[in-house]
Amino acid sequence: MAILVTGGAGYIGSHTCVELLIEGYEIVVVDNFSNSHHESLRRVTEITGKTFKIYEFDLMDKEELENIFEENDIEAVVHFAGLKAVGESVNEPLWYYANNVIGTVILCEVMKKHNVKKLVFSSSATVYGNSDEVPIKEDALLSATNPYGRTKLMIEEILRDLYLSDPKWSIALLRYFNPIGAHESGRIGEAPNGVPNNLLPYISQVAVGKLDRLNIFGDNYPTKDGTGIRDYIHVVDLAAGHCRAIEKVQSSTGVEAYNLGTGRGYSVFEMIDAFEMASDKLIPYTILKRRPGDVAVCYANATKAFEELGWEAVHGIDKMCQDTWRWQVNNPNGYDNLNALMKPKE
Ligand code: NAD
Ligand code: WQD
Repeated sequence: MAILVTGGAGYIGSHTCVELLIEGYEIVVVDNFSNSHHESLRRVTEITGKTFKIYEFDLMDKEELENIFEENDIEAVVHFAGLKAVGESVNEPLWYYANNVIGTVILCEVMKKHNVKKLVFSSSATVYGNSDEVPIKEDALLSATNPYGRTKLMIEEILRDLYLSDPKWSIALLRYFNPIGAHESGRIGEAPNGVPNNLLPYISQVAVGKLDRLNIFGDNYPTKDGTGIRDYIHVVDLAAGHCRAIEKVQSSTGVEAYNLGTGRGYSVFEMIDAFEMASDKLIPYTILKRRPGDVAVCYANATKAFEELGWEAVHGIDKMCQDTWRWQVNNPNGYDNLNALMKPKE
């Protein structure tokens, strides 16, 4: 029996593959490598000492997907595969709807045909839209502010309808807050394409000398220091949450949403301080105006995941920054140009 991991070569997927393998699961990965590298999966094997099957194709290729279910004894699916850049989704909405929504529908059709009805889905705190009632609980009002967020909302609705049509389905909708950090080996981590959109990858590229300075999007929010507050969660904690969710979908039916966050918020300035401490580098910054669509404060109430999945985040902000820094220094170009190690700026 194996767990199928879609998008397993990506940032969160690769860390989850490590945790699943360490916990003794057999896994099968499918990825089209549109936003990842084979090297990440090679390093998953290096870290765990375990091998697994890798299929390279697009989820929308239904025939190939059928083939996976015929060749392997799949018991459940962890579904990461999707596009995730908010700005890109505004410019290319059809691509996002096709890849994320249709990709998921095709996956579920094939699962249904093969009588595999246990699914863990990568949702996002973005489904809470502009809600600034914190801490956010799973029953908060849902909305989307961009096509990417709408794909997550639509998929959540589709999966709820699927369960209503057949109560044998068992589905966990995992709403991630702000995943950061890397495996503590420094061998796998986040490798954004081009200039990072997210705070931590940006800060770490400033620290390593790839970018000159951080732009802070607004210092006049109604927060303690005026900058935006988010719930940053260590990617290894997040990965462990998937193992607990797999146990949950294997032992019950239904469709349930779970916040995966720490329940604590940190401001941009606090993140800069923590990263300066971890890296022993100065992070120069410029204050710019607010980024459209940003909320002031967003952090989770993660009680439901604790009570129903037996999961809680254990790593603090210092560890998140130390692990990000180790990964960044050892792999300044991510998985590209693996031999071109760059000396960090003094
Ligand atoms: P990622 O881009 O690193 O990983 C996604 C993986 O899916 C990549 O390896 C990519 O090549 C693959 N993929 C994409 N479309 C595919 C397709 N049609 N067929 C096969 N493979 C495909 O992203 P990530 O940060 O690891 O995110 C994983 C999931 O978690 C995504 O669904 C994302 O929306 C969600 N999520 C991420 C964050 C975050 O901040 N990283 C936050 C909330 C939710
Ligand atoms: C965090 C804080 C920024 C960059 C996004 C997506 C969301 C989810 C996770 C997938 C905010 C500030 C940032 C920078 C800055 N992904 N910032 N300078 O916006 O909470 O969430 O990623 O589902 O959908 O919207 O995360 O890391 O972009 O921003 O000042 O260069 O850092 O304004 O306050 P966000 P982020």
